[in-house]
Amino acid sequence: MDQFAGIVFDAYGTLLDVASVALACEARWPGHGSALTRLWRARQLEYSWLRSLMGRHADFWQVTGDALDVACAALGLDLAPADRAALLDGYLQLAPFPEVVVALNRLAGMRKLALSNGAPAMLRAGLEHAGIAGHLEAILSVESVRIFKPAPQVYALATTYLGCAPADILFVSANGWDVAGAASFGLRTVWLNRADAPAERLGVAPEIVAPNLAALADMIL
Ligand code: LAC
Repeated sequence: MDQFAGIVFDAYGTLLDVASVALACEARWPGHGSALTRLWRARQLEYSWLRSLMGRHADFWQVTGDALDVACAALGLDLAPADRAALLDGYLQLAPFPEVVVALNRLAGMRKLALSNGAPAMLRAGLEHAGIAGHLEAILSVESVRIFKPAPQVYALATTYLGCAPADILFVSANGWDVAGAASFGLRTVWLNRADAPAERLGVAPEIVAPNLAALADMIL
């Protein structure tokens, strides 16, 4: 692999497993945990895109709470205030994917950043709780540009921070649409296809596809 100035990681779904809230959802509404977890995440992303298109930015903590509210309403689940607070807190305590910390250790010689939709406090709390923050030189949040991925301004935060051209950065995400946004901006991209999903049809393709971060480390080291 050619040299690059740094590796930039997406956070939610890539380093942090958003499905880790499923157990708490299931405990509150037996039989509905996985459906709620999936709909919550889907609405969270849809609201981020819709707010960006409308020019009505709210931070990802609010978007995540709004998405929980609408997902519960759609599934007919009654969400008491205490349960709402507890489920949202789960977003601060997401588990890392099992291979992540070891793989980040193996990539110790490289400059590593996170670049995420997450609001700064929630993002830092989540990455610290998961034992990942210490492996990262910087944690960049979209809050400084107040628009969500895949807006090009977001990926420009990485080139600005590293002071390099887009083609000097390797961007890693398990979210296919995020990879497309980064590739469209000009970053070199890796799609961690954790769920064995079909490739996105968005006019841009990742340079590398790997099943997880351990496999990527094998490829680039
Ligand atoms: C993030 C979203 C893509 O962390 O999950 O930016």
